[in-house]
Amino acid sequence: MTRKKLIVGNWKMHCNAQEASVLVHRLDKQIEHVPQDAEVVLCPSFLSLQPLAMQLNGRRFKLGAQNVYHKDEGAFTGEVSAHMLRELVDYAIVGHSERRTHFHEKEEIALKVSACFRNSITPILCVGETLIERQNEETKLVLHDQIMADLAMLTAEEVEQMVIAYEPVWAIGSGDFAKPEQVLRAIRTIRHNIAELFGKYTANKIKVLYGGSTNPDNAKAYLKVEGVDGLLVGGASLNYHQFADIIEAARDV
Ligand code: PGA
Repeated sequence: MTRKKLIVGNWKMHCNAQEASVLVHRLDKQIEHVPQDAEVVLCPSFLSLQPLAMQLNGRRFKLGAQNVYHKDEGAFTGEVSAHMLRELVDYAIVGHSERRTHFHEKEEIALKVSACFRNSITPILCVGETLIERQNEETKLVLHDQIMADLAMLTAEEVEQMVIAYEPVWAIGSGDFAKPEQVLRAIRTIRHNIAELFGKYTANKIKVLYGGSTNPDNAKAYLKVEGVDGLLVGGASLNYHQFADIIEAARDV
């Protein structure tokens, strides 16, 4: 079964609304045809979602949020709920390692994933080990624990529809490339854990992405790794030439 490759651009805390609009315009011009077998998702800051939704007019690119708050509404100054984002985005990144590290997110990740489903948003859950954890040969354990904790509130039917991004923390924004064999092993571990918790059918259905220092030179190699359904791209997604080339790499893999 061939399935669409998902190419997600995580713009992180870059681009104000005007810059985001220019970037999308240039990306749109740069790409002649989005490969039929690829789906492209842009995750700008919250501020740019509404204007980009109007600019994009639902064509070519889908939108994703970089985070959500897990309650639908209430006295939570400064937060943006999944409920506010519904109908504006198709996807939301949840549990990115930068949120886990800088904002100490842990227990609330399961609640955020659940809030996404409650609001018809597909969560892209990020998991991955740090360098120390890899050096201590704890990668399997870390992935197991993150999956156990973060999917705790879901049914198998929900898990089937979600996306998991394997992002080794040491490879994010570092230019330190994970070897395709390392990605293969980690993704097997992820599907193995899902199979144990939710059954083989679900483990096979769930989309698993790779993320961490992806660029036009390595994108194809990662996309060819067995079990990789797409890429979560950080730095290179801010460069429309590079991101267009990465999207092109998803053709015929
Ligand atoms: P990077 O970021 O591509 O810049 O390494 C990936 C991510 O953080 O999702």
